[in-house]
Amino acid sequence: MKDLTPDPDSLDPIETASRDEIAALQLKRLQWSLGHAYENVPHYRAAFDAAGVQPEDLTDLADLAKFPFTVKQDLRDNYPFGMFAVPREEVVRVHASSGTTGQPTVVGYTRNDLKTWADVVARSMRAAGTRAGDIVHISYGYGLFTGGLGAHYGAERLGCTVVPVSGGMTARQVQLIEDFRPSTIMVTPSYMLSILDCYREAGLDPAASPLNVGIFGAEPWTNAMRAEIEAAFDMHAVDIYGLSEVIGPGVAQECVETKDGLHIWEDHFYPEIIDPETGEVLPDGELGELVFTSLTKEAFPIIRYRTRDLTRLLPGTARAMRRMEKVTGRSDDMMIVRGVNVFPTQIEEQILALEGLAPHFQVELSREGRMDAMVVHVEGADDAVGVVLAERIKERIGVTCAVKVGAPGSVPRSQGKAVRILDRRS
Ligand code: DLL
Repeated sequence: MKDLTPDPDSLDPIETASRDEIAALQLKRLQWSLGHAYENVPHYRAAFDAAGVQPEDLTDLADLAKFPFTVKQDLRDNYPFGMFAVPREEVVRVHASSGTTGQPTVVGYTRNDLKTWADVVARSMRAAGTRAGDIVHISYGYGLFTGGLGAHYGAERLGCTVVPVSGGMTARQVQLIEDFRPSTIMVTPSYMLSILDCYREAGLDPAASPLNVGIFGAEPWTNAMRAEIEAAFDMHAVDIYGLSEVIGPGVAQECVETKDGLHIWEDHFYPEIIDPETGEVLPDGELGELVFTSLTKEAFPIIRYRTRDLTRLLPGTARAMRRMEKVTGRSDDMMIVRGVNVFPTQIEEQILALEGLAPHFQVELSREGRMDAMVVHVEGADDAVGVVLAERIKERIGVTCAVKVGAPGSVPRSQGKAVRILDRRS
């Protein structure tokens, strides 16, 4: 694989600033953001008043802990435009979550917000090893989902030639990669596996593809999956994180030279880790729920948003800004099977550690009498490997399950975010 470490001179000054410089900028911006939210969004005014805090009460970054959290329900209650902090006419774009579990949530951007977003995605792509002049194939979905358009404007900002393919029509994706010869692909890791299948079905060698860098995110994926994709395509696979409520993709990005977790672009997004039960702020290094406060967003300031994503904050390495560890899962994705907490990423690790199993999987939960039953659907050549997988899951994760080994293609393929859990218990 190519050495794609960026030239230090190409970095934004803030990427190599001291911690003190970063903290000073954050304090100034946080004070602005709290004031902006309080002055312009009735929800924040009411929530701050109820908690007995005013924006002026923040004189130190740690004071943020006094302010109330924002949760998804707050956004639903203010559907569609109630959380906007600027007149609707100044909102030049909206995105929305799919709303699979209820009312969708809507987010908005001013012209400046779109510029900020393109800047942080461009910075992320440069950290991933992409350069101006590169061809970038984007398979994140375009539309209300922030993946496609977020990646798109970032890639244009960096100065790339953008191929806006969106998701779906996998055979054509392969054709376009072979014909246009992009060096970077931006796609969910699970959809990259579908593209890999298509390469093999077409009799093409994925290792000979033009791709050097894959920028994978929008769903949890493991280092085992990274190894699988890197080996198959002979490319770098790096992690990009984000969520629509905070901006979209480009909140945090793994650097290609270190691949040791994701640097959070702390000049725009202030992270905290809290104990999900008590809401108490935890020190760096401890595992908990990630919470974000936007520092510069105009249309949709977000204060202490509970992401439900579980991770820990780590000191900076390749950049000055702190890292977040690869997200192990969302608290919503945690399956409690007969009292044992299980994340799909733990199952993924066990599947990828075994020869003879494809990396596709789905976990089905059902109720047998009063007991939970878990079936892991995988693809492989024979049942023997399924027996081994069930043993390892029991031994290493602590949960008894059945493994069903199906023929290639039997596990539904992802064209975006993979559906890992089928919960048929209720
Ligand atoms: O998924 C934004 C995005 C698009 C990020 C493309 C990266 C690439 P939402 O649809 O609002 O936004 O979903 C956000 O997806 O809270 C996480 O649970 C999950 N997620 C996003 N990136 C990662 C990642 C986009 N790198 C939710 N690792 C977040 C693990 C991720 N989970």
